[in-house]
Amino acid sequence: MSTAAKVDERARDEFARLGTTRVHRGELLRHPVYTRFLHWSVAIFFVLSLLTGFAIYSPWLFRWIAPLFGGGPRTRLLHPWFGLLFTIFFFFQFLNWMAPMAWQEADRRWMRRLRRYATNENRIETEDVGFFNGGQKLYFWAIVVSAILFLITGVLMWFDDQVPRWVVAVSYVVHDLAALVMLAGFIIHVYEGTAHQPGTFRSMIDGTVTEPWAWTHHPGWYRALTGRDAREEYEREKRRQEER
Ligand code: HEM
Repeated sequence: MSTAAKVDERARDEFARLGTTRVHRGELLRHPVYTRFLHWSVAIFFVLSLLTGFAIYSPWLFRWIAPLFGGGPRTRLLHPWFGLLFTIFFFFQFLNWMAPMAWQEADRRWMRRLRRYATNENRIETEDVGFFNGGQKLYFWAIVVSAILFLITGVLMWFDDQVPRWVVAVSYVVHDLAALVMLAGFIIHVYEGTAHQPGTFRSMIDGTVTEPWAWTHHPGWYRALTGRDAREEYEREKRRQEER
């Protein structure tokens, strides 16, 4: 086992002692305490970075934001620290999710079905969709790339008196482009995690999902965990509903 995997496993064990996850009958454990802690830490510092970033980007358009952070100069001062904390927490999230986020052939097939997924055309996902689907993995890897770009360009802009002016100018553009990608991803992500896929949000609150949620959205993961076939479960449930 690599050092990163050992660090992650130890953190999971420690956090499992700090908090509890109750899994009732008909439910499955999806995200343990440590994962939930990391996810919400990432989310909080992302939103704080986004808000302070908006206020710096356009002080006039977003003039309601700076007062929330104690005025313009304080907002400027806080932004890089929020960004740094976002990157640090995401680094641990990266270690936590690196394995299930590995890109596979099935994810390429999932991407080809994107339109059908967005319009809810398929009742249940195909058997090759594991713990995360292709869209979730794409979002994850977009954050990895963006976080690296944010960090490099952010540090260059932070210490702008020590780097050539053209480097700072390029950094501004790259930083803002990465922010746009992240903003778009964030909006889609929140929609997917709440309104579009009911039953998903609770997985990041109490850590569990229902079995029907699992066989609907992640049949491969459901089979690996329970040994049961998602489509059979779906057909059985359909018959049960029809008989009522
Ligand atoms: C603030 C609103 C947010 C909500 C309601 C939300 C909700 C969720 C939920 C429910 C999941 C679990 C999905 C599953 O188990 O299938 C999840 C996963 C994830 N979240 Fe969030 N999240 C939010 C913010 C963020 C932010 C700000 C980031 C990073 C910038 C982020 C990054 C991720 C990633 C990478 C995953 C795993 C892949 C995925 O499900 O897309 N989330 N989120």
